[in-house]
Amino acid sequence: MSSNRICELLNIRYPIIQAPMNWVSGPALVAAVSSAGGLGTLGPNAGSSDITDDVERTGERIRQRIQTIRDLTDAPFAVNIVVGFGEDTKYSEKVVQVLIEENVPVAVVSVGSPRVYTERLKNAGITVLHAVSTAEHAGKAQAAGVDAVICEGYEAGGHKGITELTTFALTPMVADAVDIPVVAGGGITDARGVIAAMALGADGVYMGSRFMVTQQAESHQSVKEAIVNGKDACTVSIPKGKMLARDLKNHFTEEYLKLHESGAPLETIIDFLEQHSQYHSQLLGKAGEAEICCGQGAGLIDDIPDAAEVVETIAKDISTRFAELVKRMKDFF
Ligand SMILES: Cc1cc2nc3c(=O)[nH]c(=O)nc-3n(C[C@H](O)[C@H](O)[C@H](O)COP(=O)(O)O)c2cc1C
Repeated sequence: MSSNRICELLNIRYPIIQAPMNWVSGPALVAAVSSAGGLGTLGPNAGSSDITDDVERTGERIRQRIQTIRDLTDAPFAVNIVVGFGEDTKYSEKVVQVLIEENVPVAVVSVGSPRVYTERLKNAGITVLHAVSTAEHAGKAQAAGVDAVICEGYEAGGHKGITELTTFALTPMVADAVDIPVVAGGGITDARGVIAAMALGADGVYMGSRFMVTQQAESHQSVKEAIVNGKDACTVSIPKGKMLARDLKNHFTEEYLKLHESGAPLETIIDFLEQHSQYHSQLLGKAGEAEICCGQGAGLIDDIPDAAEVVETIAKDISTRFAELVKRMKDFF
């Protein structure tokens, strides 16, 4: 039995979760991370080559990807459920149905209330991890019966709630607010980040951007190269309705922010987003002109390794980095 609560809960070797990424985290990436001892998570649209608004087709695509993951690995894996709001819940309803039918071991639930699906998923024997961006929401997720919370700080790539709480501040707040295991995400790319997150009270880590820039990620080569070339402050937080999203800075983010600041009507903004979406960057390779969700850790990413190597390097580096840390601190404390 592992002494780490996340490893024990998920039946994995390392408490490293590859975060779900729209169009990016497909079966090859999920299987590589899970086979290496972490937990891979299938993201929406990942592995597909076109956009669909058909609910049945959305469900069947997820079912096929789950079967492909199972052809590639026997290890546990997760599937993302983006709950959504109003009309959009018709998609998550379908995804939940498929996850239950396919007996998927773990669900990573995001963008919506934990009250919507937790009970159904738990009754079907699925372990539920719920993503939050405040300690208050972590408490609500625990009350709704989830098995673990994932807290995503302001550094994180993609859509990340409504606050600017950073991983550094948010993780201990969440760890204090709940008794269930906590997974921290946002800006973590290497063993230093993992040690820091765990020192802040996390039981495990949640990493997106680092895994987006790996051999197995479905991202277009031009997107991977744009991130490798990004240095320092190469990402920006942009408002998206009531949420915030973090993207790699490019022509898209410049134009989008101009449009937003000019007070353009909502329809114009939605239309612009649809014409410059991640489908256009990740699939079609328009890395300069379309949205690329990406976390602040981009400045630390300078290669495109095998995803298994990312997990193995972190596992290998932890003890060296930890020994260095103890050495730097021991004379003072
Ligand atoms: C390209 C990309 C796509 C993303 N798509 C999703 C998604 O479909 N569902 C979701 O819950 N989170 C999504 N996220 C957020 C990640 O799951 C995770 O919260 C984030 O990547 C963690 O921060 P990091 O990128 O700094 O590691 C996405 C992030 C990226 C970078």
